[in-house]
Amino acid sequence: MKANQAPDAILEQEIGQAIARIRFQECQAAFQDRGQTLFLEDFLPAAVVEAILLPEVERLRPRAHRSFIPRHKKSGSISFYTLAKDAPVFLTLYRSRPLRDFLSRLAGVPLLLCPEDDPHSCALYYYTKPGDHIGFHYDTSYYKGARYTALLGLVQRSNSRLVCQLHKNEPGRQVQELELATPPGAFVFFNGDKLYHAVTPLGRDEQRVVLTMEYVTNPQMNAFHRAFSNLKDAFAYFGLSTLFRRPPERHLMRR
Ligand SMILES: [Fe+2]
Repeated sequence: MKANQAPDAILEQEIGQAIARIRFQECQAAFQDRGQTLFLEDFLPAAVVEAILLPEVERLRPRAHRSFIPRHKKSGSISFYTLAKDAPVFLTLYRSRPLRDFLSRLAGVPLLLCPEDDPHSCALYYYTKPGDHIGFHYDTSYYKGARYTALLGLVQRSNSRLVCQLHKNEPGRQVQELELATPPGAFVFFNGDKLYHAVTPLGRDEQRVVLTMEYVTNPQMNAFHRAFSNLKDAFAYFGLSTLFRRPPERHLMRR
């Protein structure tokens, strides 16, 4: 990491080096054995995350939209729209071709970016107040194909954990529960329809922030599912304003 390099260039270089360090066959075997879930504790160096991404996390923090669904979820979120407009360094990660190629090889199927009108496609989640959490759920795909979630740890000053129940609803397999801390640079990748997961409640003076990135095997969605998904995102994550917001200008988008 050189001081005079642009943040995007540093990030692209670090992603390439991170993927080169990975023993692919071991990762792929672990991914399949764990019901299409992979956890890499130190995918990106913590120093890189802290130098390039954490200043942006702090800058955006006041703009996080807080949402509370009794008995299910309490946290803050920053949508894809805001990241595309005001913090595109996160999209450098999301759109990284080497990262998407690596994840496609793991999944065994070509993965595509979500359409530009999906506010969830790349987003920041802030767990910053006592009791912030999310209950057990699947990252259900409303797309015509599968949806995979990649999660990068940014801040883990907390005892809150990502709890994963592997093999739930897999006939003949015993459920295995993992409790994962996601420190800066940790990476989790899973098939959203297969991993049942939750985030345990935050204590007082604790912080947990993650970046999530969604990839799909088919970016089409029927109109009913689109409407349901938009409403869910508006109420549970990003606020009603996202329902009436146009996606970012096309010239910002690079595929
Ligand atoms: Fe989730």
